[in-house]
Amino acid sequence: MARLLGQWHSLPGRHRSPDYAALAAAVRGLLADGRLPLGVRLPAERELAEALGVSRTTVTAAYRNLRETGHLTSRRGAGSWTTLPNGHRVASSGLWTPDDDMDMIDLGVAASAAPVELVPAARAAADDLPRFLGSAGYHPSGLRELREAVAAAYTARGVATSAEQILVTSGTQQALDLVLRLSVPAGAPVLVESPTYPNALAALAARRARISTHGLDATTGWDGELLLAALRQTRPRLAYVIPEFQNPTGHLMPAALRERLVAAAHATGTELVVDESFVDLPLDGAEMPPPVAVYDRHSRVVSIGGMSKAYWGGLRIGWVRASAPLVQRLAALRVGVDMASPVLEQLVAVHLLAQSETIVAARRKQLAFRRDALIGALREHLPEWRCFVPGGGVTLWAELDGPISSALSRAAEDVGVRLAPGPRFGLDGTLERFVRLPFTLAADDLTEAIRRIASVRHDLDRAARPAWRTPAVIA
Ligand SMILES: Cc1ncc(COP(=O)(O)O)c(C=O)c1O
Repeated sequence: MARLLGQWHSLPGRHRSPDYAALAAAVRGLLADGRLPLGVRLPAERELAEALGVSRTTVTAAYRNLRETGHLTSRRGAGSWTTLPNGHRVASSGLWTPDDDMDMIDLGVAASAAPVELVPAARAAADDLPRFLGSAGYHPSGLRELREAVAAAYTARGVATSAEQILVTSGTQQALDLVLRLSVPAGAPVLVESPTYPNALAALAARRARISTHGLDATTGWDGELLLAALRQTRPRLAYVIPEFQNPTGHLMPAALRERLVAAAHATGTELVVDESFVDLPLDGAEMPPPVAVYDRHSRVVSIGGMSKAYWGGLRIGWVRASAPLVQRLAALRVGVDMASPVLEQLVAVHLLAQSETIVAARRKQLAFRRDALIGALREHLPEWRCFVPGGGVTLWAELDGPISSALSRAAEDVGVRLAPGPRFGLDGTLERFVRLPFTLAADDLTEAIRRIASVRHDLDRAARPAWRTPAVIA
């Protein structure tokens, strides 16, 4: 808890608020960005006071404040645990948010609104439905026509694929979850990138994997030698990578490293899970490297992907591409989870994929425009921040001018901007020098968000300089 709280002293306006209020605000911040889950028991007041080096009165007052705002519930003898205050709801990001935040510019979610083709596709799908109504409608591996359409897209990208090699899932997230259920027993070593996609970390935590990381450089991306050395040293059961416009850094893995990575995974007996969520979204017309699966001669590579980024997240359509026997095993496992994906949504997906050229071209154009607007706003309002300009995807990983990401996110919330602070993308509370900025909202909203962030960034400096302390960790 003390480690999570980190520099809780350095909240904006800190010079005006007493210690207990700053501590309570920091706990609320951790709850809001998901690092402190709901229903978690907080340490006893005396223990936390000791770990933070403050008086017990301060912690008592902070806990009282959290109880008053509805963030904490206490019962004598049972302790205090985190709760959701009245007037709040769980947002699409899975995090909690005030009920009345219609004006909030949400930069916490990196996904776009639906394309105009969606409603006509849904109507056409409804017309197709009668063909399926005579059966029970359970298709654990997915509808044949959707599996064929997805397989054809892989084949067109240069990796021959049959419909038997495709399992349709409820989004890329379920694809990852199913693969982990099959391949990662509790305590098994798993290698991930750092930073990485937070919900992948959540899926790994649910399987109680033993996670180690390969650090990506914000400017240069993967260090091939270090990545392969990490594989050789940890010999993980599974490695999870996002080679196309990595979330959050936006880097694209070069072909040569793809090939070496597959060879190294084969040598170490590692299953390589390749998340291709952003593969449809190169934004500058550059040629894409071949899919990682092209280099796979020993069925070491499992590719996962979906329609959330180029089409619409609300469809909940994703897939696994693997060997046909592995797909069968995943389908059998999936019956124990949710039986099958909805027939109607799969039919909508078939219609959308049939128009992929038009829909994806429009999406790329829109994202390129928004990315450039975001970069322009950053250069104007926050020129001291450094950003690698991604050639695709939907996110920018901005390097801040200090380790202020959590404090900045808390301050931004007060001016109506929700941010995903750097530490959300790692494991150990580091990455405070970074913030992820998606460019999926309209350009005007992005510019306004950066203007507001810049205003609170400058307020952070006016707050009293925090005395840096290294908080003790408590078990
Ligand atoms: C890298 C990555 N994987 C998976 C997902 C989840 O995608 P889906 O909506 O298809 O479950 C996302 C969504 O943000 C993502 O960025």
